[in-house]
Amino acid sequence: MTDSPLAVVILAAGQGTRMKSALPKVLHRIAGRPMLGHVLAVARALGAKRMVVVTAPDAEQVAALAKEWGAETAIQDRQLGTGHAVLAARAALGEFPGNVLVLFGDAPLLTAATLGKLVNRLQAGADIATLGFLAANPTGYGRMITDGDALIRIVEEKDASPDERKMTRVFAGMLAGNAATVFDLLGKVGNQNAQGEFYLTDLIAIARGRGLKCAVVEGPESEMLGVNSRAQLAEAETAFQTRRRHELMEQGVTFLAPDTVFLSADTVIESDATIAQYVVFGPGVTVRKGAEIRAFCHIENAEIGANAIVGPFARLRGGAKLDDGVDIGNFVELKNAHLETGVKAHHLTYIGDAHVGAHANIGAGTITCNYDGVSKHRTEIGANAFIGSNAALVAPIRIGEGAIVAAGSVITEEVPPDALALGRARQVTKPGRANIIRTRNKSRKKGA
Ligand code: UD1
Ligand code: MG
Repeated sequence: MTDSPLAVVILAAGQGTRMKSALPKVLHRIAGRPMLGHVLAVARALGAKRMVVVTAPDAEQVAALAKEWGAETAIQDRQLGTGHAVLAARAALGEFPGNVLVLFGDAPLLTAATLGKLVNRLQAGADIATLGFLAANPTGYGRMITDGDALIRIVEEKDASPDERKMTRVFAGMLAGNAATVFDLLGKVGNQNAQGEFYLTDLIAIARGRGLKCAVVEGPESEMLGVNSRAQLAEAETAFQTRRRHELMEQGVTFLAPDTVFLSADTVIESDATIAQYVVFGPGVTVRKGAEIRAFCHIENAEIGANAIVGPFARLRGGAKLDDGVDIGNFVELKNAHLETGVKAHHLTYIGDAHVGAHANIGAGTITCNYDGVSKHRTEIGANAFIGSNAALVAPIRIGEGAIVAAGSVITEEVPPDALALGRARQVTKPGRANIIRTRNKSRKKGA
C-alpha cells in the first residue's frame, strides 16, 4: 500500500470567528506565508497526487492561493462541520484509487516526517490512522478514547463528560484511510451533538462498529497547534521561528542571538553565514556562504553573495543583488540594484534602480535620484568608479568605469570612463572676514 497514490484534502472553509478578522483564518500568516500555504507545502512534500482545498463559497482569495500551489478547490456550501467539509471534496476526487489524508488549513506546523508516519500506518495494517498527541493543556481539542493501542472513538470537548475532559491525549485533526472507505464512513455520520455539526471525528466510532482497525500515531505537540485565535497565531509564529532557526543552525549557520532574528518561510541561508542580533528577513531572501549580516538589518527579496557584509542598520528591498564580497554599511538602503563583486557602500546611501560595477566605491551620503515624481530611472556606475561623498546622481545617468565624481556633486550629465566630474559651486575664501562679521554681529546684538 505504500505505493497507493495519495490524495490530500485540506479543510479551509471554517469561518474562524475566534480570529475576529475580515481575512479568512487560513490566510493569516506564519513567517510571512499564509497558514494554508504551509499546509500545501507539506502536502506537496508528501508527494500527493491530488490536493483538494475545501473552501467556503466566495472565498476567492483562498481559491487563488490553492491554485498558486497547484491544488484544486471544492466548495462547502454551508459550514456544517469537519465531516461535512471532507465530504465536499468527494465529487472532486471521484473514485480515487488510493488513500486520502485529511489535513486542516489551520494547523501550519505539521511536518512531512510526522504525516509520513501516519500514511505508513495504513500500510502496517490500520484501516484508519489518526494523529494524536499528549496535550499540556487539552482545552478545545477532541479527546481520544483508547483501549490499549486501539482507538475506540473521539469525543469533542463540548460533548465530553467531566472524566473524559480530564484526558490529555487529544486529536490533532489529521487522519488517513482508503479514500472509498473514508467517504463511505463519513456518509453515515450524523449531527446529534452539542454543536449540531457533522464531526469528522465521529467516523472513528462508526469504523469501529464495522470492525475496522483505527490506530493512533503520536506526534510531537510542537507540530500540532491548531490556530483558532490571535494568541495561538502568535504561539505558532514563535514555534515556527524557533524550529527554523534550529534547522539553519544544524545546517551550519551562526546566530549570535537566535531569538531576536525573524525568518520568512522561504528564507535561504547557507553555511558559515553569521546572522547578528535583531535581523528581520522578509520574503525572498537568499544569503550565500560566509556572508555576515550585522545587527538591526531589514532585508527582503534580496540575494546576498558569499562573504558579503551587510549592516549594521542596512535596509535591502526588492531586487537587491549583492555579488560576492560586497560591503554594505550602516544606514544604506538598496532597491532593485545589482552590486558587483567588491563594491563598497559604507555609510548613509540610497542606491535604487541601479547597476554598480565591480570594486566601485560609493561615498557616504550618495543618493541615486531615481524618481522624477512619475517614473523611475536607472543609474549605471562602471567598475572601479569612485563616487565622492554626498553626490546626487540624477537618473537616468551613466558614470563610466574608473571615473571619479567629486564630493558634493549633483551629476546630471554622463561621465565618461576615467573622467573627473565636478558638479558643485566653486569655493570662495576671504581671509580675515570671519572676525569682521563676528564683531558686526555682536554690536548689532547690543544695540537691539
Ligand atoms: C477540530 C476537531 C478536534 C481536534 C481539533 C484540532 C472536529 C469535529 N474536531 O476541532 O477533535 O482536536 O480540530 O485542532 O473535527 N472546517 C471546514 N468546514 C466546517 C468546519 C470546519 O472547512 O464546516 C475547517 C476549518 O476551516 C479548519 C478545520 O476544518 O481548518 C477545523 O475546524 P475547527 O472549527 O477549527 O475545529 P476545532 O474546533 O479546532
Ligand atoms: Mg481548529
